[in-house]
Amino acid sequence: MCGRLTSGAVRRHDLKPKGEYCGFPARSYGHPERWLPPTGDSMAISVKPLHPLFGAEIGQVEIGLPLDDSTVVEIRAAFEEYSLLLFRDQELDDDKQIAFSERFGPLETTVKANPAGGTYFARQSNLDIDTGAVIPPEDRRIIYQKANMFWHTDSSFKRVPALCSLLSARLVPPEGGDTEFATMRATYAELPEATKRRIEGLVAEHSLVHSRSLVDPRVLTEEQKAELPPVPQTLVRTNPVNGRKSIYVGAHASHIVGWPVEQGRALLRELTEFATQQKFVYRHVWRAGDLVVWDNRCLLHRATPFDTVRYKRLMQRTTVAGDGPTVP
Ligand code: OGA
Ligand code: MN
Repeated sequence: MCGRLTSGAVRRHDLKPKGEYCGFPARSYGHPERWLPPTGDSMAISVKPLHPLFGAEIGQVEIGLPLDDSTVVEIRAAFEEYSLLLFRDQELDDDKQIAFSERFGPLETTVKANPAGGTYFARQSNLDIDTGAVIPPEDRRIIYQKANMFWHTDSSFKRVPALCSLLSARLVPPEGGDTEFATMRATYAELPEATKRRIEGLVAEHSLVHSRSLVDPRVLTEEQKAELPPVPQTLVRTNPVNGRKSIYVGAHASHIVGWPVEQGRALLRELTEFATQQKFVYRHVWRAGDLVVWDNRCLLHRATPFDTVRYKRLMQRTTVAGDGPTVP
């Protein structure tokens, strides 16, 4: 069932989790140490940095085709190093995106609040999932998506937060709708030593109810709220491959466990402001056919506005689960 780029409406039954895609076999994910950079000069992919601190465009690879293990090892090594990888001019459909995403690990299914809830996809779009018609701006689904405009890291409201997200641009508006990314790794490296000592070992409580209430407390139904109770996440994370540390904050982070709520919020706000200074930010201007993979362990990201009445935007996101909770 490997077709061309999905445009407009996506049929729900096409998005149900399945065992096998396009004849790709089931994956074995392996230990993080598998993802060490290859040595020597025999790289199959090309790597072109996008920003002085992080991000790289990867060339010479068609991610919609079955990839051999050595190419995947190179991509994974680049991911650990650069935190964000851009693949341009890719012919992807949903099945191919799932197959490529699974090379990073097992996929999350999406929370009920997303139009594609219960499938492997999070759909970011102003188009109705069933009819393809433009959704009116006052509709709950458009308001819900406004929460993406706060700096956040995907699925930090889950006990096991996401390793990475893969966002594929199927339809892009002629202007607006860029996505910004900020590196919490470079941020950590630049924090004053006293702040590093102050935050080491702290745990933040993350929840979707908290982040969605920043937009509109009524945007989640009682059922959606009950699906996702608050979870603890460590405030400082360490990359298991290269040992580099990052802070771990974002809109889902509500407060610091064991601290007065307001004091915790002030610290989280201070860290987020520090992390999102211009020098730490890469802004991606989408072209149809782009796929961006980003490391949710160490990047923040946010959507930027576009004219949802005049233009169509359809982005399909798959999300790869992390390998365990961040707090024992
Ligand atoms: C996401 C997200 C931002 C955008 O898909 O997780 O935050 O610009 N997207 O669509
Ligand atoms: Mn997101």
